[in-house]
Amino acid sequence: MRLYVNIDHVATVREARRTDEPDPVRAAAAAERGGADGITVHLREDRRHIQDADVRALRTAVRTVLNLELGAAPEIVRIAGRLKPFQATLVPERRQEITTEGGLALGGATPKIRTAIARLTAAGIRVSLFIDPDPGAIDRAAALGVAAVELHTGRYARSWRKSDAALRALERAAAHARGRSLAVHAGHGLTYDNVQPVAALRDIEELNIGHSIVSHAIFLGMEEAVRRMRQLVDEARRP
Ligand code: PXP
Repeated sequence: MRLYVNIDHVATVREARRTDEPDPVRAAAAAERGGADGITVHLREDRRHIQDADVRALRTAVRTVLNLELGAAPEIVRIAGRLKPFQATLVPERRQEITTEGGLALGGATPKIRTAIARLTAAGIRVSLFIDPDPGAIDRAAALGVAAVELHTGRYARSWRKSDAALRALERAAAHARGRSLAVHAGHGLTYDNVQPVAALRDIEELNIGHSIVSHAIFLGMEEAVRRMRQLVDEARRP
């Protein structure tokens, strides 16, 4: 199970003062020392946290792989095409949202998403689509010819204490996506408390976790915060 660490909120703290600390590049290096298999950042159109210069710096500094989250806006897709991260995860983006609220709507004509996929693929970038754990969305993603889907774990994160329905939906969706030859990633709202049942799902091969790790890093340091998440994920995965 690969653990990709999303360091957007390191940049959120920096942007709170528009200064030069804390440095996302330093955070990425510490996350890698702690056992991250990849570093994820979201270059939003509103640039509320990660900036273009961060992505450029991370592109050369990251020793593992860089996963760039982005909306399908042509300007951002062009930047991705130039920087060529290992992976691009297309996400829906709305200006007013606090965080990515739902998966991509792939119903009907999706010309912007098709164009984004074509441009990213032509640049040699592995493309993943962030979608809800829903069979219809998975079928539409498969039809778009991408390598991977990232299943939105937000509903699970909100409800896991009360019911296992969302976990079962993730399990079914992951199996459905594997059956469609898609690599299966998952993320959003995963924490030290709720990660293990998701990490134990065999059809999922990659987790993207940000807010909870950065929160723990305030008290433990980034390296140790990632190490502890890594241990939980590895433990859940043991036969
Ligand atoms: N995956 C995707 C596609 C996301 O948009 C986000 C949030 O940026 C995450 C994973 C990480 O979510 P969290 O910060 O809640 O761990």
